[in-house]
Amino acid sequence: MNGISNRVMALSESATLVMSQKSAELKAKGVDVINLSVGEPDFATPNHIKEAAKEAIDNNFTFYTPASGTLDLRKAICTKLERENGLTYTPDQIVCSNGAKQSICNAILALVNKGDEVIEPAPYWVSYPEMVKMAEGVPVIVNAGIEQDFKMTAQQLEAAITEKTKAVIICSPSNPTGSVYSQTELKELADVLAKHKHVYAISDEIYEHISYVGKHESIAQFEE
Ligand SMILES: Cc1ncc(COP(=O)(O)O)c(C=O)c1O
Repeated sequence: MNGISNRVMALSESATLVMSQKSAELKAKGVDVINLSVGEPDFATPNHIKEAAKEAIDNNFTFYTPASGTLDLRKAICTKLERENGLTYTPDQIVCSNGAKQSICNAILALVNKGDEVIEPAPYWVSYPEMVKMAEGVPVIVNAGIEQDFKMTAQQLEAAITEKTKAVIICSPSNPTGSVYSQTELKELADVLAKHKHVYAISDEIYEHISYVGKHESIAQFEE
């Protein structure tokens, strides 16, 4: 008897984690490997972060918090968004999670009904289509090749939108390509979305601070 749900059986294994595992196995055998798979820093967690975590445990900061995160944390996130990104949010608009993967998955599960389409420019981070499939949605892949610097154009977005489109996932700076959308390019995408109010933008900006092309730009600045 196979007790595992169809939902889980339909998912593909993360190619990134397969590669990472392979690299760990080869390293264990003494092979000199440069692991370019998982997006993990090659330095240890800074001491002040380690100390703060230990101090929190020592101070018994170990009980349930509000589901959306403590008010102090949500206020600190609002301060960061205002200071670094010029974006104004209030703590009640912030939901904390255990990382970007959970945040994106939560957003998809909260938005996508069976049969809803989610537009994903390719190359994409491997988990996006799997999350959409888990929500019984349909990933709609838009090819953005090297000739367009791996970025989806406004025309491509417009052409991919249907009545069933629920969201588009934008990842800038991008995993896996490193491409970064400029403010102008994001504005062009936002202008298309403004014409299609039923389509949400899910913006994965996890690599905001690993960018070498100047100031980080978020599509959230074009909210309306
Ligand atoms: C584009 C992108 N989004 C999200 C994640 C997952 O982030 P987290 O480890 O915070 O869950 C990764 C990790 O590889 C990623 O590359």
